[in-house]
Amino acid sequence: MCGIVGYIGNREATPILLSGLKRLEYRGYDSAGLALLEDLQAAISSNGHSTQLLSAHQLVIEKCKGKVTDLEELSARNPHLSTIGIGHTRWATHGAPSDVNAHPHTDQSGKIAIIHNGIIENYSQIKKHLISRGHIFQTETDTEVLAHLIGEFFEQSHNLTEAVRLSLNEVVGAYGIAVISSENPDEIVVARKGSPLVIGVGNDNDYFVASDAAAIIAHTRQVIYLSDNEMATITRSGIKTRTISNVEITKTIEHIEMELEAIEKGGFDHFMLKEIYEQPRTITDAMRGRVVEEEGNVVLGGLENHLRELRRVNRILITACGTSFHAGLIGKYMIEQYARIPVDIEYASEFRYRNPIVGDDDVMFAISQSGETADTLAALREGKRKGALGLGIVNVVGSTIARESDGGVYIHAGPEIGVASTKAFTSQLTVFALITIMLGRMRHLSVVDGRAMIRELLALPDKVQQTIENTEQQVKQIAEIFKDATNFLYLGRGYNYPAALEGALKLKEISYIHAEGYPAAEMKHGPIALIDENMPVVFVAPHDDVYEKILSNIQEVRARKGHVIAIATEGDEQITELAEQVIFIPETIPMLTPILSVVPLQLLAYYMATARGCNVDQPRNLAKSVTVE
Ligand code: G6P
Repeated sequence: MCGIVGYIGNREATPILLSGLKRLEYRGYDSAGLALLEDLQAAISSNGHSTQLLSAHQLVIEKCKGKVTDLEELSARNPHLSTIGIGHTRWATHGAPSDVNAHPHTDQSGKIAIIHNGIIENYSQIKKHLISRGHIFQTETDTEVLAHLIGEFFEQSHNLTEAVRLSLNEVVGAYGIAVISSENPDEIVVARKGSPLVIGVGNDNDYFVASDAAAIIAHTRQVIYLSDNEMATITRSGIKTRTISNVEITKTIEHIEMELEAIEKGGFDHFMLKEIYEQPRTITDAMRGRVVEEEGNVVLGGLENHLRELRRVNRILITACGTSFHAGLIGKYMIEQYARIPVDIEYASEFRYRNPIVGDDDVMFAISQSGETADTLAALREGKRKGALGLGIVNVVGSTIARESDGGVYIHAGPEIGVASTKAFTSQLTVFALITIMLGRMRHLSVVDGRAMIRELLALPDKVQQTIENTEQQVKQIAEIFKDATNFLYLGRGYNYPAALEGALKLKEISYIHAEGYPAAEMKHGPIALIDENMPVVFVAPHDDVYEKILSNIQEVRARKGHVIAIATEGDEQITELAEQVIFIPETIPMLTPILSVVPLQLLAYYMATARGCNVDQPRNLAKSVTVE
């Protein structure tokens, strides 16, 4: 997501802030900005007898759409001397990437500046209240609302820490923030809830702030990690920490041993593993602010203008490539089961050249993590040209597919760096579940059923977390056993047939082992000829509507001496008698099982690849974003 840096000390702040932002930019941000407190030192006060040099400070904001180098150029054109400042690289949530929406944001008085990672969920209520009190807003962002709220409290006490603290008590959502004020030139106030924040302790009475230690590691390895609901007031003479309910706390300074590159991966050996681990949070982010549990319904801002078309649509088209295509297949199953709308899905590369039949009443979803895949973009254009309403399900904000769609839903998975897509897939599935509930509630799905589905969705992040914790070591051992295999089969039925396809794709992408995904029942029409004592077969067999059927397929493989690795639902004793290896996942409704079953499949591909010494994050011949045909 976004990146935060801050500095207070005796050195010039701008170069420190810019180099910190560059270290965070590998994630691909859309805009950047700085707030500095320029020491004017020229304000003269005279009482008629004597003159006095006052140290007055002016808040200076420099921000622009684009990369940190654009900000660097802007800053070089308008140099401002300052020894305190905050900087931000943005990944848009509320409000498109633009100069004005870039952080920092200021309060009504223009004296307080804030940078923010995360989402303020109740910002519209707070905004209404502030408007009624005369506040005027310049942007569509949730962050500006928080800036104004802090300003409102600051007016009462002129105590920045207290103003931030009281504001955070009003706020629902996630944040990592840093705040400065021209009235308090010797302090930065920072706070965290759900969005990381680290304070660096320098050698020379100087202090650093960052959302990721990578941004400050060049200056210090002594750091304090804030936990959720904690805040700190950082001055040139020290740090005071407290909770946002105003209990003073003592934090320990920790020494970071890791190398810069490792920290950029958040301590994980590879981005792919980090991204697998991020899934409980990214699934939460995909749902954040979108479910209305009471009404058993879902509100998707990017589809609000198209509710009429969605209510009367008779056919949905889905188009995508790679992993996104697999998510689309599961999306088809979800929508057809619960919304009863026919869904056609096709690889974008086929759709674009096939002269497909598209009608004015069709709605088309183009799914793409990057939002830049050339085939998917061309398919979207083709669909729109022929009359369909073109909607995007995209991760990268402001990407071409996002811009060219008539509307759509961001999956908010954050930058995905590992070439083998992991967290984007589970977020795409989460978004498809939301769309399914919304379309279902427009038709035959009752409020009670909608609520039940939402409850299952909300329980998913914890279940994904459990799945990672409970299966990782076992999967690692399984990878050791099978690392020299040359072929793998992945079989599943119903919702887990596409999960099998995805498991096979992950394995071939990063371990270079030939792997095929198949609907389990189709095995007898071909792949069964391949099965012998050298063939590992992964069955994705959670307890769902087709569970009994898949047991027979497992028996068929066993009878031919194939090695069976099964992904099954916790408590399933029947399957332990049939499979050599059983990896258990928590129970959920059938529609959501792929979100859990794919996690051990991702881990299996990862540990197979590392056991074989493959470069997981940069697999040969592949690209993260395929912008050519
Ligand atoms: C490439 C990537 C895959 C991805 C596919 C589609 O092949 O290596 O991981 O699934 O493109 O990308 P998209 O960005 O459109 O989802």
